[in-house]
Amino acid sequence: MTAEGSLEFKRVDPATLTDLLQLARLHQAAFRAIGQAGWTQKSLAESCSMDGSLLIGAFSDSRPVGFAVFRCVLDEAELITLAVDPEHQGKSIASKLLKWSDAQLMQQDISSVFLEVRTDNAPAIRLYETVGFQSRSVRKGYYKVAGGSRVDAVIYSRVLS
Ligand SMILES: CC(C)(COP(=O)(O)OP(=O)(O)OC[C@H]1O[C@@H](n2cnc3c(N)ncnc32)[C@H](O)[C@@H]1OP(=O)(O)O)[C@@H](O)C(=O)NCCC(=O)NCCS
Repeated sequence: MTAEGSLEFKRVDPATLTDLLQLARLHQAAFRAIGQAGWTQKSLAESCSMDGSLLIGAFSDSRPVGFAVFRCVLDEAELITLAVDPEHQGKSIASKLLKWSDAQLMQQDISSVFLEVRTDNAPAIRLYETVGFQSRSVRKGYYKVAGGSRVDAVIYSRVLS
């Protein structure tokens, strides 16, 4: 566990976390703000209980303000989702959370992280490029969006060091 000012990062055990509902609400609010649907408590619980899952939370005054879910396989981790409470965005919480996560991942011998992001999610793309992810490939029309149209996905990755 590490505290940065009033901000604290910790690995969260979803089996003991009573407040998955609070995290699901945070996820929904963050994604609603960009016109996407967030996760339900059930989908969050399912994702976090899969083999290799790692849930890392950012807490301000003990209240969750952001979190990331990774899935680790061998020496590689996928960033499955990342969300910061809209009321706390723009305060470097996501970039600090990703930096703190690096150390946790390296402790378990993870050497690279990859993720997928919609090409229309400019804030997330800026964030990932700022923290050192590089785009590797594009999956054309990967995401189906409201109205039946499709949006490309970009695969980003970065080597941990
Ligand atoms: C993407 C998200 C996690 C960023 O969280 P955050 O805590 O506000 O991000 P940070 O404050 O750490 O920002 C770090 C960098 O990302 C970029 N960034 C973040 N939000 C941005 C925005 N709204 N517009 C443009 N750039 C943005 C900037 O480059 C920023 O660096 P800067 O502040 O020095 O300019 C947050 O906006 C969110 O939860 N979005 C909805 C969910 C989502 O898109 N998740 C990722 C899906 S793959």
